[in-house]
Amino acid sequence: MRRPVIGILTWREGKRFAEPAYFRRLIRAGRALGGTVFLFAPQDVSPSGRQVRGFVPDGRSWKARVFPRPDVVIDRYRYKPTAAFRQYVTFRRTNGFRYANSRLANKWKVHEVLRRDERMHRWLPEAMLYNHKHLRSMLARHRLLYLKPLNGTGGRGIVRLEKTAEGYRLLARNKDRAKVSALIRRIPALLRWIDRWKTEKMIIQQGLRLDLVPKRSVDMRLLIQKDGNGRWSITGAGMRVGGEKSATANLHGGGKAVPVETLLRSRFGEQRAQEIITDCEQLAYQTAETIEQHFGRMIELGLDIGIDVDGRAWLIEVNPKPGREIFRELGMPQVYREAIRKPIQYALYLIRQHPGDERQSSQAAL
Ligand SMILES: Nc1ncnc2c1ncn2[C@@H]1O[C@H](COP(=O)(O)OP(=O)(O)O)[C@@H](O)[C@H]1O
Ligand SMILES: [Mg+2]
Repeated sequence: MRRPVIGILTWREGKRFAEPAYFRRLIRAGRALGGTVFLFAPQDVSPSGRQVRGFVPDGRSWKARVFPRPDVVIDRYRYKPTAAFRQYVTFRRTNGFRYANSRLANKWKVHEVLRRDERMHRWLPEAMLYNHKHLRSMLARHRLLYLKPLNGTGGRGIVRLEKTAEGYRLLARNKDRAKVSALIRRIPALLRWIDRWKTEKMIIQQGLRLDLVPKRSVDMRLLIQKDGNGRWSITGAGMRVGGEKSATANLHGGGKAVPVETLLRSRFGEQRAQEIITDCEQLAYQTAETIEQHFGRMIELGLDIGIDVDGRAWLIEVNPKPGREIFRELGMPQVYREAIRKPIQYALYLIRQHPGDERQSSQAAL
């Protein structure tokens, strides 16, 4: 039998790829597990769709060769506000590969989908789409708010807004993640500030008290993945402690990684820490189920979970193409390796489940 063929869809310009270090590891893991794995971009697929120009490591660089149509494609094309990304979106809609993972919509759409599922309610911060009326009504209910661009990543464009005795305190991260702060006394000026700030639609989210470490934002990053039997499993989690006076805990924004148990035990004690962890696990399995029901098959999800100062868990964000570097930073090399193997094992599982399907349908289409 020929080796199963797995394509990884990503951004490419010449031999420059997004995430080259991760892809080298992924391809190596794929080979060790008996598959043929290569990278490709939308421009690498022949018009008939039967052949693909694929890339594999070649020393420190990459070499291209022609591969057969992949049995399964793992979509790892991450959002960028560029023309290339728009081409990718069209490509994904129109070509008939069998994908291991579906696309997720923006932060607001995801919130709406989760909100419709009663089982998710206890973990969802209140949220509304930004406009003047909604901001006023959210301010009337919450002293702390977060405003976030619908397609933002890495903490970019996020505004933390707090109502204080002196006025509205703003702490924001611009497109380059630089910190910006302001104090505004009255609502009309506040609305003008936000209208100038925003570059796309924004979601307003109830702000959570995440300062489990004084003056820091702390949150949990949990990785839930499909395994080689097609079932969801939690691979691991870590806490991210944000930089001092930072509104976000993203690692790129100056945050640092700490083991979950260490941080939760020191704050809540042994037993309560365990209850919180169990709650986070339930949150993760339920989120994966609800997301899949609506958006279709997924391969993995990175969940940003806030644990507030009372120990309550909240779902902040669902990342469909998450990183796994946190496990390396935590000094957990086995978990890190497992996080790389699992997507391949799941892709191989899919191929075993439906051998040949895709080739038949591609011939039927010719
Ligand atoms: N509602 C909130 N309350 C408190 N902190 C928040 C809230 N929303 C976001 N944050 C902080 O900002 C970070 C980035 O927000 P997130 O929604 O994950 O956007 P991004 O896509 O930029 O990662 C979170 O990891 C968290 O530290
Ligand atoms: Mg996030």
